[in-house]
Amino acid sequence: MPLRGFTPLLLWILPVWRVLTPVNAHPPLSRCHLMQNTAVCNDRRLSSVPADLSQNIEELQLHQNHITTLTDDSLRRYPALRTLSLACNELTTIQSAAFRDSHVLTSLNFANNSLSVGFHESGAALNELRTLQSLDLSENKLDEEMVGVLLGNLTSVERLNLSGNVIQRLDEDIFRRLHRLTELDLQRNFLFEIDNAFHGNHKLQRLNLAFNSLPCLTDFHLTQLQVLNASNNLIDWFISRQDVNETFQLETLDLSHNNLLFFPFLPTRSHLQNLYLSDNRLSFYEHLDNSTNPNITTTVEFYNLKNYAANVTAQLWQEDLHGDVSSLLILDLRGNHVTYFPQGFIQKMPLLSRLKMSVNCLEKLNFTSERFSGSLYELDVSRNELNHVQASDDDLRTLGNLTYFNLSQNNLSFLPTRLFPSLLNLRSVDLSYNDIDVCVEEPVNNFSRCVDWKHVRNLKQLYLKSCNIKNIPNSAFSGMSLTHLELSENPGLNVEQSLQTLWTTLQHLGLGNTKIQNFDFSEFQSLKSLNISSNSLSQFPTSLRQIGLKSLDLRDNVLSTIPADQAGALATTLTTVYLTGNSFNCCQTEWFRTFEKQETLNIADKSDIKCVDFFRRTHFVERFDPSLCFVQTEPLFWYIVLFVPVCVSFVGISVILLLTVKPKVLENSIKKKCLKPTPY
Ligand SMILES: *[C@@H]1O[C@H](CO)[C@@H](O)[C@H](O)[C@H]1NC(C)=O
Ligand SMILES: *[C@@H]1O[C@H](CO)[C@@H](O)[C@H](O)[C@H]1NC(C)=O
Ligand SMILES: *[C@@H]1O[C@H](CO)[C@@H](O)[C@H](O)[C@H]1NC(C)=O
Ligand SMILES: *[C@@H]1O[C@H](CO)[C@@H](O)[C@H](O)[C@H]1NC(C)=O
Ligand SMILES: *[C@@H]1O[C@H](CO)[C@@H](O)[C@H](O)[C@H]1NC(C)=O
Ligand SMILES: *[C@@H]1O[C@H](CO)[C@@H](O)[C@H](O)[C@H]1NC(C)=O
Ligand SMILES: *[C@@H]1O[C@H](CO)[C@@H](O)[C@H](O)[C@H]1NC(C)=O
Ligand SMILES: *[C@@H]1O[C@H](CO)[C@@H](O)[C@H](O)[C@H]1NC(C)=O
Ligand SMILES: *[C@@H]1O[C@H](CO)[C@@H](O)[C@H](O)[C@H]1NC(C)=O
Ligand SMILES: *[C@@H]1O[C@H](CO)[C@@H](O)[C@H](O)[C@H]1NC(C)=O
Ligand SMILES: *[C@@H]1O[C@H](CO)[C@@H](O)[C@H](O)[C@H]1NC(C)=O
Ligand SMILES: *[C@@H]1O[C@H](CO)[C@@H](O)[C@H](O)[C@H]1NC(C)=O
Repeated sequence: MPLRGFTPLLLWILPVWRVLTPVNAHPPLSRCHLMQNTAVCNDRRLSSVPADLSQNIEELQLHQNHITTLTDDSLRRYPALRTLSLACNELTTIQSAAFRDSHVLTSLNFANNSLSVGFHESGAALNELRTLQSLDLSENKLDEEMVGVLLGNLTSVERLNLSGNVIQRLDEDIFRRLHRLTELDLQRNFLFEIDNAFHGNHKLQRLNLAFNSLPCLTDFHLTQLQVLNASNNLIDWFISRQDVNETFQLETLDLSHNNLLFFPFLPTRSHLQNLYLSDNRLSFYEHLDNSTNPNITTTVEFYNLKNYAANVTAQLWQEDLHGDVSSLLILDLRGNHVTYFPQGFIQKMPLLSRLKMSVNCLEKLNFTSERFSGSLYELDVSRNELNHVQASDDDLRTLGNLTYFNLSQNNLSFLPTRLFPSLLNLRSVDLSYNDIDVCVEEPVNNFSRCVDWKHVRNLKQLYLKSCNIKNIPNSAFSGMSLTHLELSENPGLNVEQSLQTLWTTLQHLGLGNTKIQNFDFSEFQSLKSLNISSNSLSQFPTSLRQIGLKSLDLRDNVLSTIPADQAGALATTLTTVYLTGNSFNCCQTEWFRTFEKQETLNIADKSDIKCVDFFRRTHFVERFDPSLCFVQTEPLFWYIVLFVPVCVSFVGISVILLLTVKPKVLENSIKKKCLKPTPY
C-alpha cells in the first residue's frame, strides 16, 4: 500500500517543520499566549523579552526561558506593566534604565537566576522603582553585601523573598529602609547571626528563617510579628525579652528540628496559638534538686558584645517562666525527652485542642493532676513509656470533646475501667503494642487489664495491633458501628463470630499475622481495605471475590496462584494490591497479567514479586518468560513420564507375542525381506 511508505516520511518531516516555523513562518507573537491583559510566554526558549506584544499588557510571564540581560529598552513598550516574572532564566544583569518607564510595576519575580553576577547595575535599576510591592530574589546566589546593594533605597516593598541564597549574617542596615515590609522569606540560607536586623521593619508580620544555621534566638522582641518560622536550625535557646509590656502579636512559632534543651522562654503576653517544638531535646527539670547539687547553674546570661543593653538573663529552673501560653491551640512536642508535665503547665492552656506528645518519655498520664480542658480534641501520647493512666469520673466528663486518642506503643497493661466508655465523642482510639485485652466479662474494678468496647458506641476507628489478644468474645463489638478495625499481629486470634455485628459498617479490617484460615469475607458489605498478610494462607480466599475491595494485602503467605476468575473479578475493583513474600508458581501466573493489564490497579512492589519454577528455582514474576512453561510444564513432563513406560511395556508385549504366538509369521517376513530382489 502506498500509504505505508508515506507515513514514516511524514513523521520524519514533522519535527523539522515544527522547529522551523517559529523562526520563519509565524511572527514571534505566536510564542506567547494572551489572556486579557496577561501575556504568558513560559518555556519558549526566548533569549529576550518579546517586543511585539500589545502595549496594554499588565502582566508578563517569562518563566523558564534563556534571557540573560534585561536591557534598558526591554520594557519600554509596556508602560502599563504591573507584574513581571522572569523566574528560572539565566539573568545576570538588569541594565540600570530598564525600569525607567515602568511607573506602575508592583510585582517582580527573579527567582532562580544569577543576579549575583551583575548586582551593582541591577541594584541601580531596582532603585528606580517607587511602586514595587513584591520582590522575589530567591535562588540567586546572593550574599548579604549583594542583597544590601540590590535593596538599596527600595522603600515600598512589602513582600520580599530571599530564600535559597548564601546570606550568612544580617546587620542592622540591610533591611533598614524597608519600612513597609510585612513578609520576609530567608529560608535555606547560611545565616548564623542576626544583629538587630529588623528594628526598622515595624510592619513585619511573617518571617521565615527555616533551614539556616542559627545557634540561638535571644532577646526576641518583634512584638508585631505574627508568624516566626525558625525550624531546622541549630537553636539551643529561644528567649523573648521579658520586660516588654506590650502584647506580642505572635500566633505561630515553629522551632521544630533544633537543639532546644529547655521549653522556649515565650513572651509574657501574647496571642500564641500554634507552637511547634518537635524534634528537639526538650525536657522539664523540676525534679533536678538543687539541694543535692548546690553548685548547679541557675541562670544563663547572653551578652551582646556590641550593645550591652541587650544582655539577657534567664532563670533556668523557674518553670513558671514559660511565658503566656493561654491562647495555645496546638502544641507539638513530638520527638523530645519530656518525662512529665510541670505542675499547672497544662492548666495554663485552657483552649488547647491538639497535644502531640508522640516519641517522648512520659511514664504516667494523670488527668486528675494535669487538668486538661474541655477543648482538648486530639491527644497523641504514642511511643512513650506510659505504664499508668489515671482519670476520675470528673476528669472524664471534662474531656467530653476528645475525639482522637493515641496510646499506641507504650507499656500499658491496665487502664481505668471507665476511660473509654466515658469519652462520648471518641472517634479514633489506638492502643496498639500494649498489653490490653478485649474483655470477656464486664470488669468490676476501677482498673482493668481489658477494655469492654460495647459501651463505646460512637467509636469508628479502633486499632489493637499486637496487643497479645487471643480471644474476642462474640458480642465484643455489638451495638458499635466501627469503620476501621485493626487486629493484626495478634497470632492465634479467634475473631470471626465477633465481627458479624460489623458486617455492614466495616471499611478497613486488619487481620495480618493472626493465623486465620478459611475466613468468610462474603458478608462484609462495605469493606474496602483488607490486610491478611503473614497468615500462611495456601489458598486464595474465594469469598473476597464479590465484596468490591479497593486495597488488599496478601504479603507473606504461601499462595501458589490466584485463580483466573478470582483475579478477573478483583482486578475490576482493586486499586492497590500487595503480593510479595509468596511462593507463586511461575507457570500459573495468568493472574499477574490480568492485574498488570488493569490500568486502575497498582501492584505495589511489582518488580519484587517472586515465583518458583518446576525445578524450585526462584524468578521474578515480572521478568519470567511464560513460554518456558511449554517446555517444562508439569503436565507435559508427567505425560512423558507416564507415557514412556506404557510404550515400552506395549512394545515389549508385542515383541513377546510375535516371538511366541506366531514365530512363523516372523520367519516368513524376514525371509521375504531378505529374498527380495534388489531393484538394481
Ligand atoms: C532553577 O532553574 C534550573 C534551570 O532552569 C532548574 O533545573 C532548577 O530545578 C531550578 N531550581 C529551582 C529550585 O527551582
Ligand atoms: C539612597 O539614597 C541616598 C540619598 O537619598 C543616596 O545618597 C544613596 O546613594 C542611595 N543609594 C542607592 C543604592 O541608591
Ligand atoms: C520563596 O521562594 C522559594 C523558592 O523560589 C519558594 O519555595 C517559597 O515558597 C517562596 N516564599 C514565599 C513566601 O512565597
Ligand atoms: C516552616 O518552614 C518549613 C520549611 O519551609 C516548612 O516545612 C514548615 O511547614 C513551616 N512551618 C510552618 C508552621 O508553616
Ligand atoms: C513596663 O511597665 C512597668 C510598670 O507598669 C514600667 O515600670 C516599665 O518601665 C515598663 N517597661 C517598658 C519597657 O515599657
Ligand atoms: C534551690 O532552688 C530554690 C527555688 O528555685 C531556691 O529558692 C533556692 O535558693 C535554691 N537553693 C540553692 C542552694 O541554690
Ligand atoms: C561546689 O563548689 C565548691 C567550691 O567551688 C566545691 O568546694 C564543692 O565541692 C562543689 N560541690 C559539688 C557538689 O560539686
Ligand atoms: C551586660 O553584661 C556586661 C558584661 O557582664 C556588663 O558589663 C554590662 O553592664 C551588662 N549590661 C546591662 C545593661 O546589664
Ligand atoms: C494523680 O493526681 C492526683 C491529684 O494530683 C493525685 O492525688 C494522685 O495520687 C495522682 N495519681 C498518680 C498515680 O500519680
Ligand atoms: C467542647 O467544645 C465546645 C466548643 O469547642 C465547647 O463549647 C464545649 O463546652 C466543649 N465541651 C466540653 C465538655 O468542655
Ligand atoms: C498512633 O501513633 C503511632 C505512632 O506514633 C502511629 O504510627 C499511628 O498511625 C497512630 N495511630 C493513628 C490511628 O493515627
Ligand atoms: C514496663 O512496665 C513494667 C512494669 O509494669 C516494667 O517492669 C518494665 O520495665 C517496663 N518496660 C519498659 C520498656 O518500660
